[in-house]
Amino acid sequence: MIRLGVIGMGERVSWVINQEMRAVAPDLKVVGVVDPDEAGARSRLPEPDSAEAIFYETLDEMVRSAKPDALVIGTRCNLHTPYAIQAARCDLPLFLEKPVSNSMEQAISLEKAFENSRCTVVVSFPLRVSPLCVMARTLLEEGAVGHPNHVMAFNYVPYGTIYFDSFYRIYPVTQGLFLQKATHDFDYLSYLMGERIVRVGAMASLGQVFGGSKPSGLVCSQCDEELICAESPRNRLVNGSGRAGSDHPCVFGEDIGTPETGMNEDSSSALLEFAGGAHGVYTQVFYSRRDAGARGATISGYEGTLTFDWYQNHIKRIRHHQPFSDTIRAGGTGSHMGGDSELARDFIGVIRGTRVSRTPIESGIQSAYTCLAAKESAETGQFVTVRQVGG
Ligand SMILES: NC(=O)c1ccc[n+]([C@@H]2O[C@H](COP(=O)([O-])OP(=O)(O)OC[C@H]3O[C@@H](n4cnc5c(N)ncnc54)[C@H](O)[C@@H]3O)[C@@H](O)[C@H]2O)c1
Repeated sequence: MIRLGVIGMGERVSWVINQEMRAVAPDLKVVGVVDPDEAGARSRLPEPDSAEAIFYETLDEMVRSAKPDALVIGTRCNLHTPYAIQAARCDLPLFLEKPVSNSMEQAISLEKAFENSRCTVVVSFPLRVSPLCVMARTLLEEGAVGHPNHVMAFNYVPYGTIYFDSFYRIYPVTQGLFLQKATHDFDYLSYLMGERIVRVGAMASLGQVFGGSKPSGLVCSQCDEELICAESPRNRLVNGSGRAGSDHPCVFGEDIGTPETGMNEDSSSALLEFAGGAHGVYTQVFYSRRDAGARGATISGYEGTLTFDWYQNHIKRIRHHQPFSDTIRAGGTGSHMGGDSELARDFIGVIRGTRVSRTPIESGIQSAYTCLAAKESAETGQFVTVRQVGG
């Protein structure tokens, strides 16, 4: 039996534990939880764990008393680093949600905490380990484009309203959408290109679509524009225009923040320089809907071009100097296009000593450093050198 200790048993990790990890390890049991919302956390656990899991005030107390085989940190973004620093002192495998840090101060202290730690981390980066991305990397290693000289990566997020009508709108928690969203993309781009990102020039558009002057605390059910607003639950449902859900805070509310006080961006883009001299561009748009959803990259070199999109679930390979082009269709789907089940296999394998982590703590910290450079660049209008793990 695998005994799991969970810190922050929220929506995301309860899905990963209940659907993905249990599929790999049916004998998994959540024995201890640190979460101030005990009722909510219990409701996200199946029986018998829901009744039997013991709740603790602190991570240390849980590790001492529940004696878990491994830890999962699934709190919101601002608490990942403080808890991970505590976990670094335990000799236990750790599944850590992203972004691993939400400030430079946090990221540096996290790197320091893991310098001599024996805690093996699986950072929750499903895109990097998704079968489509791994296949793209394999083709690149086989020379599909020759040397990868350029990348253009795109992310048109069809469920982007979540960053304005759920807890992600709380800017002090997220610190913007480079850290929140691009952390995945900068990570998989470094993996695909086989090199770290060393310099970033970025730009963001804020407050042009989302945010506005609707009163603080307004929700759709109390709004006199509910019938005509494209964002009301009923109209999203009718139009199939993104995450429908239930009553929600207004995406045009003043409580989202302003460009001056800090708020999530409508869209943002980054020019990326890689260590070997290649460059690329990444762009993310949060008001896209329906069939506009797209996420993937086009990588090119002298020999060819490779392009893939998780929403299309295929890779196109074009040979530049031979009259052949292929489309490779991926089978299967699953959460994050199979990436979450790959993460679960990695984590259970690390616990059993049969696999190594493909998303170690360094990948999480390096991605956070890159996001922080992009954030700083967008704020200052200057190119920013990316801090590198290990100095
Ligand atoms: N890797 C991915 O693809 C992916 C996808 C979705 C979300 N996420 C990340 O998962 C994280 C959690 O998102 P969520 O939607 O599950 O949020 P959530 O609010 O549902 O879960 C957070 C949990 O933490 C608990 N919590 C609050 N304060 C705490 C404290 N001091 N100590 C311990 N627990 C505490 C809450 O009660 C809640 O149960 C976010 O950081 C988000 O960025 C990652």
